[in-house]
Amino acid sequence: MTNNRQFLLARRPVGAIQRSDFDFATMPLRALAEGEILIRISHVSLDPAMRGWMNASTDSYMPPVALGDVMRAIAVGRIVESRNPGFVVGDHVTGLLGVQEYAIHNGVGLSKVDPSLAPLPLFLGALGMPGLTAYFGLLDVGQPKEGDTVLVSGAAGAVGALVGQIAKLKGARVIGIAGGADKVRYLVEELGFDAAIDYKTENLAAALRQHAPKGVDVFFDNVGGEILDAALANLAHGARVVICGAISQYNNTDAVTGPSNYLQLLVKRATMRGVMVSDYYHRAMEAITTMGGWIQGGKLKTREHVVQGLDSFPDTFAKLFNGANQGKLVLQVV
Ligand SMILES: NC(=O)c1ccc[n+]([C@@H]2O[C@H](COP(=O)([O-])OP(=O)(O)OC[C@H]3O[C@@H](n4cnc5c(N)ncnc54)[C@H](OP(=O)(O)O)[C@@H]3O)[C@@H](O)[C@H]2O)c1
Repeated sequence: MTNNRQFLLARRPVGAIQRSDFDFATMPLRALAEGEILIRISHVSLDPAMRGWMNASTDSYMPPVALGDVMRAIAVGRIVESRNPGFVVGDHVTGLLGVQEYAIHNGVGLSKVDPSLAPLPLFLGALGMPGLTAYFGLLDVGQPKEGDTVLVSGAAGAVGALVGQIAKLKGARVIGIAGGADKVRYLVEELGFDAAIDYKTENLAAALRQHAPKGVDVFFDNVGGEILDAALANLAHGARVVICGAISQYNNTDAVTGPSNYLQLLVKRATMRGVMVSDYYHRAMEAITTMGGWIQGGKLKTREHVVQGLDSFPDTFAKLFNGANQGKLVLQVV
């Protein structure tokens, strides 16, 4: 009998996650029922949203992971057994498969991917959920025009690095905000950003005034908190602020810090709007085809940070919150 190793949510974290928030369990795999498939997971996507799914709150876009359940995560894997006519052994699929070696699934909500077109981790990054977030969040919500100044926070990460590059392809001037000299250098020298600000060592307000003297037309925010506040103080007339995420707030043990500069939205006739990637899943092919073409043509660079070994999950996941990830963070299971 085959065993399945899986991370179960043992308790709700307080602040930063710890290994003791999970049980690393070994369970025998049960037989498939009619309509089910068995997937051997090869790569698990580690996403900041998973931290929110661990909280008890019910006012989010998805219910929390129940205590004792397999930790929810997007993953990709190969079908090794099928009792579902829609899927054959050997197919590769992606979807919410969890932090585990094997998933038993009824196939609903899964997408097939073709590993001959791109390495599997790319389907968790630029050709997956973060890619769709960047593409539609920027183009549909941010609506950059040629010559606009686009500012993106969390700029060296999975979503941010794509946002900045797509904005460049659309003829914008792009400024990134990231932590540390290496990431700032990467943005300017390798990805072609016009400027990048190290929020850990620079005075953000002064740097924004220097790099965007006429204000920012589009601000794509992945971070929230003080960075959102500083950007609001430097908007151009008619600016669009895209709220994609607020990773600086996800480990808070008290209330989220809201922006005190929000009246600049009034002064600058600006808008602030949230983006939710799942609203765009029905248009996924549009983004994947376009970005796939850009990647093939060398116009869009991707960087996947692949860490080996399911057992490292808690420590690897923590990299998202201490900035140790260099690009799209992926856990390789096999
Ligand atoms: N709305 C949606 O549908 C949707 C979909 C996907 C993702 N998101 C959001 O998009 C954001 C980025 O996600 P991602 O997958 O691309 O992650 P990522 O940027 O690849 O990784 C997270 C990065 O956040 C930065 N960070 C962590 N703590 C920070 C803090 N306190 N202050 C400033 N920066 C901090 C770190 O970079 P530095 O080294 O630069 O600090 C870290 O590398 C997240 O907020 C996520 O929730 C939203």
